[in-house]
Amino acid sequence: MALAFSAPRTILMVAGARPNFMKVAPLLKECEARPGCRAVLVHTGQHYDPELSEIFFRDLGIRPPDHALEVGSGSHAAQTAEILRRFEPVCQAARPDLVLVVGDVNSTLAATLVAVKLGIPVAHVEAGLRSFDRAMPEEVNRLLTDAVATWHFTTEASAGENLLREGIAPERIHFAGNVMIDTLLACRERAAASTILDRLGLATPAGVRPYGVVTLHRPSNVDAPAQLAGLLAALQALGEELPLIFPVHPRTAARLTAQGATLDGQGLRLVPPQGYLDFLHLLSRARLIITDSGGIQEESAILEVPCLTVRNSTERPVTVECGWNRLVGTRPSALLAAAGEVLHEGWRPGRRPPLWDGHASRRILDVLAGEPALLEVTR
Ligand code: UD1
Repeated sequence: MALAFSAPRTILMVAGARPNFMKVAPLLKECEARPGCRAVLVHTGQHYDPELSEIFFRDLGIRPPDHALEVGSGSHAAQTAEILRRFEPVCQAARPDLVLVVGDVNSTLAATLVAVKLGIPVAHVEAGLRSFDRAMPEEVNRLLTDAVATWHFTTEASAGENLLREGIAPERIHFAGNVMIDTLLACRERAAASTILDRLGLATPAGVRPYGVVTLHRPSNVDAPAQLAGLLAALQALGEELPLIFPVHPRTAARLTAQGATLDGQGLRLVPPQGYLDFLHLLSRARLIITDSGGIQEESAILEVPCLTVRNSTERPVTVECGWNRLVGTRPSALLAAAGEVLHEGWRPGRRPPLWDGHASRRILDVLAGEPALLEVTR
């Protein structure tokens, strides 16, 4: 099928869950600044709590979505199915030239499936990342989205290599850099005005007291009671030496409540999920980050804060290669040992991954809005 675009080009952008909002923000801005482009924004509502959704729209200055699907929670099948059902009529009515999806959440895959079945080409931003662990729901979302997307925009070299190995044609792969880092760099100054350190009692007249930041929400770490209890015990022990701030994801909060977990140490402090600017500021001043998130591994490389990733694999190997991230596995003893090393032996500074320079969205829109020849797609 040959696709010919007419100006203005309509790009339908999909966001659904917390890690999507900071990726869509700069793309939307870049698209809307170009006379030849028109953006339609759809929020699937996969994340709906104000602290996982609304506050990000506010902090990032994202305009209200054109369509809010309000799908809410459910099993993976139910949530994905609900997005499929609700997104199809929106897509049919908007008649976009292309659908742009970001990341690897259920909304990414569901929107992709709807679009390709309607014959609308898909651009995947953050394509090609692979943990090679199919027990992760995100890995399945990544593989399936990339298999049918037309444009693959990558953040690091490994992603391009993965896509080539999977048979994606080289001309469909564009190494664009990291849109999440576009947002980080654009927001850094505003984040520095956050009062979160005062509110948490970390700022003193003499300066900022040393602390670490923890986030854990992956099913592999929080769904099995013994694993979660082991990690919490390790964090409490570490908290005796370095106070730890732990903004708790709703998934983790639910597991903690179900387990009746009691935290008796003073060093590990559980707080609600934070908004983007507050969280960025909190991360930027930390001595150490402990996480199982994908995005925070990347942010640590720009904020130049050592990151210990509580997983056996990472789909973002460049963060390790560049020296800001270390995979410590999921054993509590290994986490404690690695944290001890960072605190007592220090951390050799790393470097910034290539093209994580604040201009990824511009490169992506250059391709999507650029030469008509680039947009002639034959399938
Ligand atoms: C999702 C993404 C994950 C991402 C994470 C960041 C998938 C498969 N996973 O995981 O890649 O790292 O978001 O936050 O898409 N919940 C609330 N309030 C909300 C949203 C969810 O309480 O606003 C609860 C739900 O009821 C559910 C749990 O949190 O029990 C999980 O939510 P869900 O969207 O299914 O996946 P996440 O674990 O958040």
